[in-house]
Amino acid sequence: MIRDLIIKSRSYRRFYQDAAIEHETLRGLVDLARLSPAAGNLQPLKYILTCEPKKNALIYPHLAWAGYLKDWPGPDEGERPSADIIILGDREVSQSIDCDHGIAAQSILLGATEKGLGGCIIGSIQRKGLQKALAIPARYEILLVLALGKPREMVVIETVGATGDIKYWRDSDDIHHVPKRPLDEIIID
Ligand SMILES: Cc1cc2nc3c(=O)[nH]c(=O)nc-3n(C[C@H](O)[C@H](O)[C@H](O)COP(=O)(O)O)c2cc1C
Repeated sequence: MIRDLIIKSRSYRRFYQDAAIEHETLRGLVDLARLSPAAGNLQPLKYILTCEPKKNALIYPHLAWAGYLKDWPGPDEGERPSADIIILGDREVSQSIDCDHGIAAQSILLGATEKGLGGCIIGSIQRKGLQKALAIPARYEILLVLALGKPREMVVIETVGATGDIKYWRDSDDIHHVPKRPLDEIIID
């Protein structure tokens, strides 16, 4: 079952923007992150949650989408995320965050998938601009943004081909393909 959940939990970048997500749902997802591993159990991560269109609109311009899809600047109005979770590092708890935010992000995305939602981890962020737009105090470092919503696209996994190209791509039916390296290539011993 965990395998099915992980296979279903793809990076989705187009959503039914009108499909609202409750604030309580976002709190439940962050609770999964709260229960996840933390280096030294320091738990330096803090979160900003939004499911309000106006606040979502403040976040959207600071995110970069699907760098390999050169002709696609990101989701159009109407297919943008209906919620975002911003993962922050609290410098007053710890100056270095290790990889806690990656683990937190995956816990949240798996939880979202289980609820029939989907999302994308965004690391390519105009951090200064976003910090200012939301008046986030300087003690918090923006680590990741999780864009969330009800997925409006099909994403399929395939095996990396003979050329070794790992770039994701979209076909003429607008299906998003994600090449994954085969198991025998990544287990080296
Ligand atoms: C740390 C991290 C940062 C990422 N940053 C971005 C990003 O800035 N923009 C984006 O569109 N996707 C981003 N992604 C999503 C990856 O592109 C995606 O995971 C990859 O293409 C594989 O697709 P999959 O998640 O469906 O397996 C990021 C993923 C990770 C793990």
